[in-house]
Amino acid sequence: MKEKRAMRLPPTADGIAEAARLLRDGGLVAFATETVYGLGADAASPTAVAKIYAAKGRPSFNPLIAHVPDGVAARREGRFPAEAEQLAAAFWPGPLTLVVPVAETGSVCELARAGLDTIALRAPAHLVAHALLTEVGRPVAAPSANRSGRVSPVTADHVMEDLGDCIDAVLDCGPCSVGLESTIVACLGARPALLRPGGVPRAEIERVVGPLEAAPSGAISAPGMLSSHYAPRARLRLGAASLERGEAGLDFGRQFHDIASDVPCLDLSRAGDLAEAAANLYSGLRRLDASGVSVIAVAPIPPFGLGEAIMDRLRRAAAPRS
Ligand code: TXA
Ligand code: MG
Repeated sequence: MKEKRAMRLPPTADGIAEAARLLRDGGLVAFATETVYGLGADAASPTAVAKIYAAKGRPSFNPLIAHVPDGVAARREGRFPAEAEQLAAAFWPGPLTLVVPVAETGSVCELARAGLDTIALRAPAHLVAHALLTEVGRPVAAPSANRSGRVSPVTADHVMEDLGDCIDAVLDCGPCSVGLESTIVACLGARPALLRPGGVPRAEIERVVGPLEAAPSGAISAPGMLSSHYAPRARLRLGAASLERGEAGLDFGRQFHDIASDVPCLDLSRAGDLAEAAANLYSGLRRLDASGVSVIAVAPIPPFGLGEAIMDRLRRAAAPRS
C-alpha cells in the first residue's frame, strides 16, 4: 500500500481547530459537507488554491466554489440580485451554490475564480463544515475531493484513496447525507439559469423563482458539465432492463431479477427512494468498480426530483472518455 501522509482529524473542537489552522496556513484540508467531501484551501491565497488544481489534476479553467459560513459572509464576496437573495433565503444553509457577480469587497483570488468576474458561493448545512468555515474566518475554495474526472467522495476513506498522499488532512465526519453535489444556479442575466442539477431538486427552486433557464451552451460555464466526468473505471450501460453476462448491476427499486449470487449487484434504494439512491450513488459506483468488472448495467431511474441530478451524473459517467 502507498504510504499516506494526510492526517485524519476527528470532527471535534480540537480536530476542527487543527483543520482551520492548516487552512489558514495555506494547507489542503478535505472536509465533509452534506453533499460530498470538499478539498479545501484558503480562497484568498493563490498559492494555496494552486495546490488544489495540482492535487486534483484539474484543468485550471475550472473555477471553484467559495464556501462561506452564512449569507453575511457571502455578500462580502458577491453581489446578490433579487433572485439570489430569494434563493439564499430559501435554501441556505444547504446544497445550493449561487453564481453571482463578484463584489468589490471580495477576497477570493482570481485563480480560484479562474479569472471570471463572477463567483460561485455556497453556505453548507453540515454542522462541522459550518464550524470549520466560521473558525477559518475567510472563504474556503473547495471542489469535490477527488482526482479530476473521477467519482466524487462521500466518505473520508474515498478521499484517502484518491488524495491521501497529496493533502495535509481530512476532517472525518463519516458518510455525507445527500451524496450528490450541490445544485448550481447562476443569477447573472434576466432569469436564473440551472448550471448543474444537484442536491436541491429543480422543482423546489422553481417554486421560489419561477422557471429556470437552461445553462448557456458553448463556453464551459460549469465544468461539472464536462462530459466524461464523475467516471468510474468500468463502462456504464444505462437504462438496463436486465443484466448481461459479465456485467455488474446497479439496481434501483428491485428492477433486476434472478441475479446469480456471484454477480456483483447492489440496489441504490430497494424502496425506490430517490434521496436514498442519491446518498448511495457514488459509494455504489466505487464498490462495483472495485469488483473489477468492465461494464456496470444501471437500472432505469426516474428523471424527476433528485433523479434529474442522479441521471445527470450517470450520463456523464457513461460518456466516452477522452
Ligand atoms: O456540493 C458541491 O458543490 C461540492 C462541495 C464540496 O461543495 N463542490 C463541488 O465542486 O462539486 P466542484 O468544483 O466539483 O464543482 C463546482 C462547479 C464546477 O462545475 C465549476 O465549473 C462551477 O461549479 N463554477 C464555479 N464557479 C463558477 C462560475 N463563476 N461560473 C460558473 N460555474 C462555476
Ligand atoms: Mg467535482
